[in-house]
Amino acid sequence: MTKTIGLICGSLRKNSYNRIIAQALIDMDDFIKFRWIEIKDLPLFNEDLELGGDPVTVSSFKSEIQDVDGIIIVSPEYNAGIPGVLKNALDWASRPSKDSALNRKPVGLIGATPGGLGTAFSQLQTRQILEAMQVHVLPFQKVLISQVHEKIDFDQKVLTDEKTKRYLQRYLQQFIHWIDHIPNLD
Ligand SMILES: Cc1cc2nc3c(=O)[nH]c(=O)nc-3n(C[C@H](O)[C@H](O)[C@H](O)COP(=O)(O)O)c2cc1C
Repeated sequence: MTKTIGLICGSLRKNSYNRIIAQALIDMDDFIKFRWIEIKDLPLFNEDLELGGDPVTVSSFKSEIQDVDGIIIVSPEYNAGIPGVLKNALDWASRPSKDSALNRKPVGLIGATPGGLGTAFSQLQTRQILEAMQVHVLPFQKVLISQVHEKIDFDQKVLTDEKTKRYLQRYLQQFIHWIDHIPNLD
């Protein structure tokens, strides 16, 4: 059956490299349905806000998560860690705990940086955070894209590096296959 995959970009920057990489996923497969799940309008997480009922942006964000078969997060690394805007979004999505929109949701992690370590630290942190939220994170596989500025056509905003395209294609196939084989650990 056709899968619907949500894409969350951990950068709010207009010309984000990570958004270009996420767009490359959309462009490489006609059989998967992709939906952007935006995080830029979410308020800063605050339990007081939550007590009054989720703001509309938050409830829509949670519904968008619920409506997809899996999510791929494509994010930069800030100061050897997860960007604050992404952590904020995950904190909202983690509520109510044990019965959250993200609970048991299959999630894949991809990251790109002009630097040399491909967001390795950020991805480790994100994986740890998601596992604390009882999210299924695709095991073993990592997509760490270093020197990303040399792998795209910045004017056209497209990924041009063939090796990276193959790498992403393979990851996408593994992710889709894995969604149907996640063990029920309840
Ligand atoms: C506050 C800040 C901290 C950063 N820290 C890191 C870092 O730890 N590792 C890294 O590879 N790049 C780091 N960078 C550089 C980002 O990888 C770079 O700005 C990248 O283009 C951001 O992703 P985007 O293009 O998707 O917005 C940092 C950038 C900022 C603004």
